[in-house]
Amino acid sequence: MYKLTIFSPATIANVSCAFDIMGFSLEGIGDEITFKKSKDPGVKIKMLNHTELSEIPSRNVAGVVAKAMLEVVNPSYGIEIELLKGIKPGSGIGSSAASAAGAAYGMNLILDKPFKTNELVEFAMLGEELASGVKHADNVAPALMGGITLVRNHHPLDLISLPVPEGLSVSVLHPLIEVETKKARKLLKEEVLLTDAVTQWGNIAGLISGLFLSDFDLIGRSMQDVIVEPVRSILIPLFDTIKKTALNSGAIGCGISGSGPSVFAFSNGSETGKKVSETMAEVYKNSGVEYKIYTSGINKDGVKILGVI
Ligand code: HSE
Repeated sequence: MYKLTIFSPATIANVSCAFDIMGFSLEGIGDEITFKKSKDPGVKIKMLNHTELSEIPSRNVAGVVAKAMLEVVNPSYGIEIELLKGIKPGSGIGSSAASAAGAAYGMNLILDKPFKTNELVEFAMLGEELASGVKHADNVAPALMGGITLVRNHHPLDLISLPVPEGLSVSVLHPLIEVETKKARKLLKEEVLLTDAVTQWGNIAGLISGLFLSDFDLIGRSMQDVIVEPVRSILIPLFDTIKKTALNSGAIGCGISGSGPSVFAFSNGSETGKKVSETMAEVYKNSGVEYKIYTSGINKDGVKILGVI
C-alpha cells in the first residue's frame, strides 16, 4: 500500500445525560484524509481547507496521533497526510475526533495494521487531549468503531458497543458559532450534588436499557441532563426554545451535541427526524442566527476506506 484515503465520521458525544462516557457516529458528515508514504522521515500535514488549523504535526490533532504511532512503529518511516475537513472546528459534532480517529485508523492501515482497536482509540485520544486538554474517548471511540459506544472506563480503556434501535433518527441543528471544548469544559463545576448524581445515573441506566429494549419512550424520558446541560446551554442561542420546539414536533429527546453549540434530537423514524430538523431550524430562521441542519441515521460502520493504491 502506497496511498490510502479514508472517511472519518462526525460524532455526537454525551448523548444528553452520559457526559464523557457515551457517543455515536453520524452518516455522511466527516473528514476525508489521505495518507501517502514518503522517503522523508516523519509526519507532514497539509490542510486542504480550514487552513487556520496548524500544519505543524505537534499542533495538529491528526499530526500528534500520526507522530505517536510512527514513533512506536518506526520513526524513520515517512508519511504525508492531506486533510479535507467536512466538519467545522468547534461545532460540537466531533471535528477534532474525526481527524484524530481518522489519523489513527489510516496510519494503522498504511503501517500494515500493527495496532488493535483499543490501541487506536488510545492514540486518537492524544488528538482530543491537544484539542480539549482532556483525553476523552466519547467521540473518537464511536468514530472508530461505528454505532453507539459506551466508555465504561477510560483508564484502562473499556469500550462497549451498544445496540442501535432500528429507525432511530438523529436531527442536528448547528448554529454557525464556535464553542471551544476546552472553554466549555472549564465552565463545569468540579463537584455535583448527590441528588443530581442520583438523577443522572438513573437516566444513564434508563438510556442504556432503552437502547437494549428498543424502547423509544424510555430512551426519550432518560435524555435529561441535570448536571452539564444547565451550565453549558447558556452558550447556545435560544437553546430552550429549540429543545421545546424539537419535543413539540415529535422528537423523543433533545440535548446539547458534545460540548455545543450544535443541538441534537432523537426521533423514531427518518420522516419525523426530518420534520424535527426543519422545525428546529425555524427557530433560527426567525431570529437571524446562521445555521446548518442535518438529519442522519446512526452510522454503524465508523471510519471507512475510500480508496487504496
Ligand atoms: N465529552 C466531551 C465534552 C465531548 O462534553 O466536553 C466533546 O465533544
